[in-house]
Amino acid sequence: MTIQTVATTPFAGQRPGTSGLRKKVTEFQQPGYLENFVEAIFLTLGEGAERSLVVGGDGRYFNRQAVQTILRMAAAHGIERVLVGRGGILSTPAVSCVIRKHAAFGGIVLSASHNPGGPDGDFGIKYNIENGGPAPEKITEAIFANTQTLTAYRISDAPPVDLDVLGTTRIENMVVEVIDPVADYAGLMARLFDFDAIRALFARGFSMRFDAMHAVSGPYAHAILEGMLGAPSGTVINGVPREDFGGGHPDPNPVNAAELIALMNGPGAPDFGAASDGDGDRNMIVGRRLAVTPSDSLAIIAANATVAPGYKHGISGIARSMPTSTAADRVADALGISCFETPTGWKYFGNLMDANLVTLCGEESYGTGSHHIREKDGLWAVLFWLNLLAASGKGVEQIVREHWARFGRNYYSRHDYEAVDAGAADQMMQALREQLPELAGRRLDGHHVAEADDFVYNDPVDGSVATRQGIRIIMSDGSRIVFRLSGTGTEGATIRLYLERYEPDPARHDLDTQEALRRLAEIADDISGLRRRTGRESPTVIT
Ligand code: G1P
Ligand code: ZN
Repeated sequence: MTIQTVATTPFAGQRPGTSGLRKKVTEFQQPGYLENFVEAIFLTLGEGAERSLVVGGDGRYFNRQAVQTILRMAAAHGIERVLVGRGGILSTPAVSCVIRKHAAFGGIVLSASHNPGGPDGDFGIKYNIENGGPAPEKITEAIFANTQTLTAYRISDAPPVDLDVLGTTRIENMVVEVIDPVADYAGLMARLFDFDAIRALFARGFSMRFDAMHAVSGPYAHAILEGMLGAPSGTVINGVPREDFGGGHPDPNPVNAAELIALMNGPGAPDFGAASDGDGDRNMIVGRRLAVTPSDSLAIIAANATVAPGYKHGISGIARSMPTSTAADRVADALGISCFETPTGWKYFGNLMDANLVTLCGEESYGTGSHHIREKDGLWAVLFWLNLLAASGKGVEQIVREHWARFGRNYYSRHDYEAVDAGAADQMMQALREQLPELAGRRLDGHHVAEADDFVYNDPVDGSVATRQGIRIIMSDGSRIVFRLSGTGTEGATIRLYLERYEPDPARHDLDTQEALRRLAEIADDISGLRRRTGRESPTVIT
């Protein structure tokens, strides 16, 4: 075994997006592409980062190969010890959990989250820091800068490690420890939630379906729901991770988890439905004939946090990404705590949680989580709901309706226009920016624009500033139209249009969501020229 120095040249476009570097598998398969990015990570970490590192991914195509490359490169950079999940598997929340539990200095997560996998699908890599959370922008930018200037990478020529057997081996001087991917995470969940109450709920015949979408949550859900909590076998469906996620799109929303939605809408539906995404950090919560919007789920968890033992002393604050509905803000008001509004992406929550300013965080994109780790956490949200259902004796629909009756309902939807021409998307955003000064104060089809801006976030903890985080048009009745471009897509540009309307009157809580938001959608199209500029008649996906 020796350490090789391999000459290389920079690849264009290795700037991490909303959540790490995501590209087509074929792009990652180019010789040196992954190696360059990993070298840039190690260059950024520099000296003093020799302790332990966590490595794992969502099991998608290219995961195993990437793990082997990273292990050989870590050994060449003087890392003392790497903890790697068996089979190269670790869900994103489990990586965060393992980093924190074992006081590692960081971790490398291999995932393109909810993007499809397989040889023609997507792959991704991201670096997480010591607190277990995604690296903040100053680090991702430094990694990017290094990708542009490096001339060589270092790698051991050791043979591949057997990833399927628990235990330790060595590459050069580095210890490789293959760990059970589930154990640490399951232990943490058992401390946060009332497992006895949930076990009793299942023992009473409560029925549930958890759709792991052929992705990484399968082993976690099997072990926790069916193993520790006694849910009948068959509760977890699509529970074996596949390299191509069974050809599906492992994004838990009503469009992609259609099988689960059909079940929950049909006769004899189970009491509770849930799903999670490729890397296990997203969640969808479904009752009979009712899919709970992620924004509502965050607000409901916040309003009921004290039912779970891990939160019995209450929550210190809430944070939501800017496009997420303001339902959580109303709960924060009622609880007398702060609600922070951050740019899209979990990395912006880390500082707030580290400083103890917030306990709960959420995004409209089916992401919910708490300060137990520094990633969003799909199964955590599902377990919270189970704990709430067990403690309250109520069903999903009753809980949601009572919440709306107390706080009002925020009708909410996101319209995605995927793979549109990048130039047209940029022009649309630019034209919107230019209109901002004259939009404020205007009347638009019966709505009065109270505020219009391009969202700027001032991090209250480290003082960093993130600009151009999305166009907000806020009406005086609290309705909002938000436009932003996706930072995770791998084809052309994806325009996200977020629509929100607040309805305090319980007599009007039964409208169809798209109907309730129709006028706002029309206003959005009028001011942006979205359809005209993109040549699209309707969104690719509505959630
Ligand atoms: C999307 C979501 C965002 C989430 C990210 C990673 O990013 O909108 O909330 O944090 O995936 O899961 P986007 O493609 O919008 O940049
Ligand atoms: Zn994900």
